[in-house]
Amino acid sequence: MKKAYRASLLRFDDAGLPVFDEDGLLVVAPDSAGRQRVLDAGSHAAVSPRHPDAELTHLPGRILAPGFVDMHIHFPQTDIIGSPSPGLLPWLENYTFPAEARFADTAHSNEVADVFFGELLRNGVTTALAFATSHVASVDAFFEGAQRRGLRMISGKVLQDRHSPDGVRDETEQSLIDTEALIRKWHNTGRLGYAITPRFAPASTDAQMRGAGELAAKYPDTWIQSHVAENRDEVAWVRELYPQARSYLDVYAGFGLMRERAVYAHCIYLDDTDRALLRDTKTAAAVSPTSNLFLGSGFFDFGAADRVGYPYGLASDVGGGTSFSPFHTMLAAYYVGREGQTKAGLSIAPSELWWRHTGGAARALGLDGVVGNLQPGCEADFLVLNPQATPLLARKAARANSLEELLFAMIVLGDDRLVERTVISQAG
Ligand code: GUN
Ligand code: ZN
Repeated sequence: MKKAYRASLLRFDDAGLPVFDEDGLLVVAPDSAGRQRVLDAGSHAAVSPRHPDAELTHLPGRILAPGFVDMHIHFPQTDIIGSPSPGLLPWLENYTFPAEARFADTAHSNEVADVFFGELLRNGVTTALAFATSHVASVDAFFEGAQRRGLRMISGKVLQDRHSPDGVRDETEQSLIDTEALIRKWHNTGRLGYAITPRFAPASTDAQMRGAGELAAKYPDTWIQSHVAENRDEVAWVRELYPQARSYLDVYAGFGLMRERAVYAHCIYLDDTDRALLRDTKTAAAVSPTSNLFLGSGFFDFGAADRVGYPYGLASDVGGGTSFSPFHTMLAAYYVGREGQTKAGLSIAPSELWWRHTGGAARALGLDGVVGNLQPGCEADFLVLNPQATPLLARKAARANSLEELLFAMIVLGDDRLVERTVISQAG
């Protein structure tokens, strides 16, 4: 059964530029797998005559927009949002590892996964690349929760067999056996994908990193996720551990962990050789501005990323990050872009911020044309936004003289109240 939604409609073209129909129509229909896909999209005047048979929902004053894509988030860190610390390494030791140790327990994993998916959907995030913990139970809880809700989600068991306390440290050989079993169980099961997940170079032995690289080669359409160059103390530690490596990023390259569908969170302390390596290997950065500001990590250099031209998109990095809301993440990205003391400051266009958290993030994940956009063929994960959601936003939206002004009003003033409905392509 064809369904049509009439409202303002936001999409992006192949160049990542916004396409906006004030009076738009989005037509969706199920594919052979029972998944709703965009069949047609554009102005109501042009599209509606082509679909006289569609069941119509009229949403006056609302904006239809692609579901947001969060390129880096930790579902087991939901409960440690807002834990202050002098920096990354003490934050890991004092809050993160004790919280993650509890995910050996299936009931706890399921309980937090439920809260996590509830928060994602309330905030309009429909796809995420998420860390689980080093426990198999946490991965199963995540994927079972995603499957029940019909979501396109990617995750994996964290690999960390050294420099990690009891309770989260895993065992080299077993960790790789578990990873392969989880790939076979979950990767490409419905809308789910598996990510090989070494936590970060300091927490994995060479044998574990080598094993991760071998699995990445054996299963080339899986994802890889890790962290790199987030914090100065972390970078100095990696230099001590790998004095022979050209850079922190180069450690991952040496283990075969840079390729399409590999995603590294943060990427703050890079040089142009590193940036060229990202570009040439088609490896992506997950830019996590609320986390970087909260933990005092540093400022991602958007200008350098664009100059060299490697793939990147936006991410919350909850629980280092402070919010599930893509609006908060986009605003923080704007602040980080503006910062002009450690790098060139620039003003990122609102539509670009939005694209970096939807279609651009999907492209960086290798999911271009699948999610993050509302062009024909895309899976129909979309949001119904209500720009009248708060009094101030209603005033700003009414006074916007351009699409950029309207998008900026939502980025600066928006949060979960703006997301009236999150519609998922596949009924869970
Ligand atoms: N580096 C290694 N582990 C983590 C983590 O859990 N969060 C962040 N932000 N950085 C990390
Ligand atoms: Zn992270």
